[in-house]
Amino acid sequence: MAARTGNASLVGVIGQPVTHSLSPAIHEYWIAQAGLDACYIPFRHRVGDFFPLIESLRVLDVRGFNITVPYKSEILPYLTSIDPQAQAMGAVNTVVNEGGRWHGLNTDGSGYLRHLRASVEADQLTQNLKQTLILGAGGAARSIVVALANAGAEQIIICNRSAEKAQALASHLQPVVGKTVLSTRPWDERESALEQVGLVVNTTSLGMTGQAPLTLDLGNMRGGGIVSDIVYHPLMTPLLQDAHARGLVTVDGLGMLLGQAAEAYHAWFGIIPVVDQALRDRLQTMLRQ
Ligand code: ATR
Repeated sequence: MAARTGNASLVGVIGQPVTHSLSPAIHEYWIAQAGLDACYIPFRHRVGDFFPLIESLRVLDVRGFNITVPYKSEILPYLTSIDPQAQAMGAVNTVVNEGGRWHGLNTDGSGYLRHLRASVEADQLTQNLKQTLILGAGGAARSIVVALANAGAEQIIICNRSAEKAQALASHLQPVVGKTVLSTRPWDERESALEQVGLVVNTTSLGMTGQAPLTLDLGNMRGGGIVSDIVYHPLMTPLLQDAHARGLVTVDGLGMLLGQAAEAYHAWFGIIPVVDQALRDRLQTMLRQ
């Protein structure tokens, strides 16, 4: 790869922590592939120094950056403009520097959708996502609910361990998602809720390495149904293994990470990057280390 010049475009990620982020590996792969004079940096910083960190990025005149936990809402007052979808979500994961004006986007939901569309045949997806069950009610659930509503979901059931959080999410998002009907179900009723849906998405941390698996008997899921997990460590979560064994369509979590990264890369560089098997293999090797 050619050495970066003094005009190199700087991009990166801020969050706490960023040390284990896979984003540098993803973006550097695409930057090298396109031969761009650019560099993606995990902006590790001193705890508590959010304002100076933001000012540092301004001084460096970065091309843009990703924002991860816990700064997705904290960044809002520093932006010149915010995409309506990100505004509705109250969270920004990507900033684009447009000549000194910072524009905020949220590519989590659109990235998820990009991945879903790449993984499932169009008609099958359209049919199945009409009735969807979302497990969890955190930030990931929020962006996925909005994305699925945009993609044509007619009904989305939100099922979360703490019922109040599910209700708060549904009330907050109902005005945002228009005709899509949002409802909630108690956590204990997640298996019976499967009878009504063609797509189920796990947005909780259950099933992640070091966490308890998600207990969910997929017996109630209709044939041809889609089971999607946003957990990507391990890639084949117990939920996806079970779904695969039952002949259901499975959609893994690495694709959402890659999808949101692809949308951010496109916003910064105007190029739609290719998510190829070599990149997925590289990330899986990193996850195993
Ligand atoms: P993110 O922003 O990535 O979605 P989050 O806001 O921490 O992460 O949300 C994590 C989700 O996993 C929440 O819906 C959480 O449920 P609660 O709202 O009841 O906390 C869910 N979750 C985490 N551990 C869980 C467990 N042991 N059983 C059920 N749900 C769990």
